[in-house]
Amino acid sequence: MKEDAPFQFRRLGAAVGAEIVDLDLSRPVNDQTFAAVRRAFLESNGLLVFRDQHITPEQHIAFSRRFGPLMIHVLDKFLLPGHPEILRVSNVVENGEPIGLGDAGRIWHSDLSYTAEPSLGSLLYALEIPSEGGDTSFANMADAYDALPAEIKQRIDGKSAVHSYGHSYAKFSGSKFRPKLTEKQKNEVAEVVHPVVRTHPESGRKALFVNEGFTSRIVGLPDAESRELLELLFAHSTQPQFVYRHHWQDHDLLFWDNRCTIHLAHGCPPELRRHMHRTTVKGDAPY
Ligand code: SIN
Repeated sequence: MKEDAPFQFRRLGAAVGAEIVDLDLSRPVNDQTFAAVRRAFLESNGLLVFRDQHITPEQHIAFSRRFGPLMIHVLDKFLLPGHPEILRVSNVVENGEPIGLGDAGRIWHSDLSYTAEPSLGSLLYALEIPSEGGDTSFANMADAYDALPAEIKQRIDGKSAVHSYGHSYAKFSGSKFRPKLTEKQKNEVAEVVHPVVRTHPESGRKALFVNEGFTSRIVGLPDAESRELLELLFAHSTQPQFVYRHHWQDHDLLFWDNRCTIHLAHGCPPELRRHMHRTTVKGDAPY
């Protein structure tokens, strides 16, 4: 980062992540500071941690919107009342009903990769964190692509894969956080096809764009070969050298890049409260 950035920038892990301190997002962020945040986002390899933020839903939405239009999650039951741009990622139960998606992200994934124009990035704000557990891990998919053996790069060159919300949803059947999808919701999340390797539109780097949560098969390959290749890519991309594990602090706001990272929520003991708000910024069709 340039010396004159209006905040402190510190790298967190070798693979992904940097923290930003001394920036108060409850106050207006001028264009110069915003440009520095965008640079920091690219330099972080896909994850910024803004420490000690005290922001309202309106401020969270307004800051997120500066990166692009916001996407509305298909599980409308878990949207913050009055603010559908915010998905509640929460295990809190009120009057016997979960108020949020309490088991969000328990399989490695890139948010909304099952849409035609998947997310650029997500901003997850910690309102209540548990005293134990609740970490989130992030994997650097550009480094993972670079490190692939030439033979595997050749096998995936020019290939596309199917992404589907239903693919992993079925694995959670019976969970109190997974209401049965209506026909309208199923239509909203119909399958899409994306390249297995995408080019990041800002950095120009190639990154793997498959994830265990939502990628169901590689187009044009027999089922067994598609499964074998996907499993190899999933295992390869989540090796420790590509991963940073985040242990949350109160009032962290995390902003991750869904175009070049995948993430995993590790979960916490169910009796401990974990309550967060997420916005999801729309991106471009992968190429
Ligand atoms: C998500 O996948 O967006 C949720 C991540 C988390 O709860 O840590």
